[in-house]
Amino acid sequence: MDDTGRAGNVALMLGGLPEAAARALVDPVPPRNRNDWSALSPETPAALFCPRTTAEVAAILRAADAAGVSVVPQGGLTGLCGGARPIAGGIALSLEKMAGIEEIDEASATMTVLAGTPLETVQRAAAEAGMYFPLDLGARGSCAIGGNAGTNAGGNRVIRYGMTRDLVLGVEAVLPDGTVVNALSKLIKNNTGYDLRQLFIGSEGTLGIITRLTLRLFPAPACTHAAICGLPDYDAVLRLLSGARRRLGPMLSAFEAMWPDYWQIACAVPGVRDPLESCHPHTVLIETQGMDEQIDGQRMAAFLEEMFEAGVVADAALSQSLADVRDFWGVRDAASEFKATLGPHHAYDVGLTTGRMDAFAHACRTAVATAVPGGRSVYYGHVGDGNLHLLAWLPGASPQPGEALDRAVYETVRRFDGSVSAEHGIGITKKPYLAYSRSAEEIALMKRLKHALDPRGTLNPGKVIDA
Ligand code: FAD
Ligand code: LAC
Ligand code: ZN
Repeated sequence: MDDTGRAGNVALMLGGLPEAAARALVDPVPPRNRNDWSALSPETPAALFCPRTTAEVAAILRAADAAGVSVVPQGGLTGLCGGARPIAGGIALSLEKMAGIEEIDEASATMTVLAGTPLETVQRAAAEAGMYFPLDLGARGSCAIGGNAGTNAGGNRVIRYGMTRDLVLGVEAVLPDGTVVNALSKLIKNNTGYDLRQLFIGSEGTLGIITRLTLRLFPAPACTHAAICGLPDYDAVLRLLSGARRRLGPMLSAFEAMWPDYWQIACAVPGVRDPLESCHPHTVLIETQGMDEQIDGQRMAAFLEEMFEAGVVADAALSQSLADVRDFWGVRDAASEFKATLGPHHAYDVGLTTGRMDAFAHACRTAVATAVPGGRSVYYGHVGDGNLHLLAWLPGASPQPGEALDRAVYETVRRFDGSVSAEHGIGITKKPYLAYSRSAEEIALMKRLKHALDPRGTLNPGKVIDA
């Protein structure tokens, strides 16, 4: 449809809105709402709505669906694959005004929140109530809990607590035709037919708009320890991981590995300190969360000692304070500053079996350099969760040869039977490669689900799959 037709439809849609929902219109559209964190160019929607209630979300969706206007849900806009980028001629619907904690139920260990609540606010509210919400990622200050559910975000503590879908007990969601589905529940065990909440978690705003969530809370850890370990080779990384699982048990809350090219770039970021003051073939950040400062500290120290004696660890720094823990994470979190130091680059979040990650890194480095002569790639990530991150770029090139880089990376992922997205989602940028990780039957079933819930293709069309 041309822009004149679309403008006509948006006018028709606006005409069909009840007065309360019409007040949610924000004009002009702020620059912030024209893109997410992906490398795609910004797009201005025909209109932006910032509703304050579920009823307003429902009214906006109902009117848009009836007028044939597409709707793109937006949370904190920190997504990395274009899922929340608006569509020309359609509307964007931001949940930013639907923020706040509705209830903390200590006996059930649950928190009910509005979908636009920033993740950091959720974490803080749990801490103030003496409990803990374990989802954590570098974008914590900007991303919203509804966006975290929309992408099924992973982050730093999946090894212990699982992904977002493991932390959400119930959702309230609005379907494209305006139907409000109340699937809020505080029950951990609830085998009453299909698990509807999981339809909305990880579907990147293509099946419904999440408006409220009931989250699982955990006991607040009394102490956190961390170690940075330098290792001679990848076999040692695998031995350290299996040792950590065996010796630290459920205390193990993060196991992050960094390859040397990543380590060097990260340690050069202003404000980042190298705890080892040397670069090893592999560096691992281990974190534990426990309940007894003294016993847990001793257990971590004894574990590292054992790993030294076994020749697994060549060098290590053990945190002496929470400031040290933060410092150690600084090297790992430095990736979010790479835009400034590396310039434009492409970021990937591939899923692989942990045992094959180093072989993948070697193969992928070669594939990138072959497809794009002079092309570079660096490797790091949530190795304990089977999730490797990599950044690839051609130094000095503008624009970047994005398609060639993507193809080189994803062809290698396919050869290693991996997943083209372990945690950031498909959005727009990975859509051409979905079939590298999902069978034709799986994609056909996804399309049937999309047609069943969104027959007119109103919600986030062109994202994840072509319906
Ligand atoms: P948005 O970007 O606004 O939206 C993301 C998707 O969800 C879009 O498809 C959108 O349409 C949909 N959506 C948004 N709100 C809703 C809703 N209420 N209902 C239904 N659909 C909705 N991701 C990880 O998984 N792990 C990490 O460790 C991690 N680290 C990051 C570090 C940095 C510095 C940055 C910038 C990003 C990082 N990310 C990470 C990616 C990103 O933060 C996550 O994907 C996050 O979950 C997105 O949340 P958001 O609120 O910003 O969502
Ligand atoms: C990370 C983001 C990029 O783990 O997922 O740093
Ligand atoms: Zn990550």
